[in-house]
Amino acid sequence: MTTRVLTGITPSGTPHLGNYVGAIRPAIAASKAPGIESFFFLADLHSLIKAQEPERTQRSTLEIAASWLACGLDPEQVWFYRQSDIPETNELMWFLTVVASKGILNRAHAYKAAMDKNETDGLDPDAGVSAGLFMYPVLMAADILIFKANQVPVGRDQIQHIEMARDFAQRFNHVYGKEYFPLPEVVIDEQVATLAGLDGRKMSKSYSNTIPLFAPRDELKKLVSSILTDSRAPGEPKDTEGSPLFQMYQAFATPEQTAAFAQAFAAGIGWGDAKQQLFERIDEELSPLRARYEALMAEPEKIEALLRRRGQQLREQFAVPLLKELRHAVGLRDLADVPKAVAATAARVALPVFKQYREKDGRFYFKLTDSDGTLLVQSAGFDSPRDAGQLIAVLKQAEQGDALQSELFKLEAEVDAVLAALAALRED
Ligand code: TRP
Repeated sequence: MTTRVLTGITPSGTPHLGNYVGAIRPAIAASKAPGIESFFFLADLHSLIKAQEPERTQRSTLEIAASWLACGLDPEQVWFYRQSDIPETNELMWFLTVVASKGILNRAHAYKAAMDKNETDGLDPDAGVSAGLFMYPVLMAADILIFKANQVPVGRDQIQHIEMARDFAQRFNHVYGKEYFPLPEVVIDEQVATLAGLDGRKMSKSYSNTIPLFAPRDELKKLVSSILTDSRAPGEPKDTEGSPLFQMYQAFATPEQTAAFAQAFAAGIGWGDAKQQLFERIDEELSPLRARYEALMAEPEKIEALLRRRGQQLREQFAVPLLKELRHAVGLRDLADVPKAVAATAARVALPVFKQYREKDGRFYFKLTDSDGTLLVQSAGFDSPRDAGQLIAVLKQAEQGDALQSELFKLEAEVDAVLAALAALRED
């Protein structure tokens, strides 16, 4: 059986080298492993929580799509799509929302962090906190569960969200009495490299120390030469340990190239030379990607068509049939199917009962009363209890067919007719 691996990418800004080395490159490599069905999607609905600037949302989505494709994601081998092209996700989100407990959402890190910050700032705890931020984990669970993903590779900051997705899936399965969803597993890549930025701290947009992944060649060269180094002069041996420059080289080089570079450090390579070598190494790997990126960005309609096509296929193959099943599961059903179901229940719950008895006149009688004790049918007197019993059997059989209220009235009429016929027989 293939394992379904699902990766969500929130489109925000242009990716940088840290994203490439730490996320994009390893994820694409992993998607090529055998026995895996990969799902990669642009989490554009999620991005609306942070950015409510339409042009930026559109541009980021395009840039991120082009970036992943340029880096070698094969859109015919993996499922590559846009979250908002699968509207069933939103519907599933609601089905999960009604089983998700608010208390769990209260504990979500992102929401709690926002609350804590407000408290420190002396504000109302929910100041500036949108319901979207609060519901973020439920939308994420819907992303995962709509394609019944088995594994979700994420960064450590996302572990809690996957645990929540498991919780909501479990609740849904329990409430509606079937294993509709497998429980997704979190996958953490322990070896994933974090790249240091220009200033030596982790490369991150929030530190403004990044090198954009598709920076033009001369900009890349300029940025690389601005990487922070110590003040050792050419000829002095340099430390590889803790050197952001060395670490970046390693991320783009083979082990042999890395060993040679370490040798050069020990031999006192000048920082200028080292930076030139680093630039060449990075550029060698990135220049074909950059060319592909530029070509893709020049034809956004191709990306649009691809995303739509894949989204449509996913809907047809998975999302639409699943939601059909789930709608039925939760009771959003064809109303024309109701009568029989209700009838069966009503018959079980409020079956009218027959009572047989003997009157003072020595004859045998029976009556039919409903569950409230209301008299429905009163028989005439029979000479033997067997006669009465036989008629009851006939009536019960007739009654088994349908037990709706209207059918009961019909039954009464039949009883009358049978009784009249019997009485006539007796008179003969
Ligand atoms: N929250 C994820 C992030 O910020 C992005 C994401 C959205 C995601 N939906 C997902 C990741 C579903 C994995 C599965 O990185």
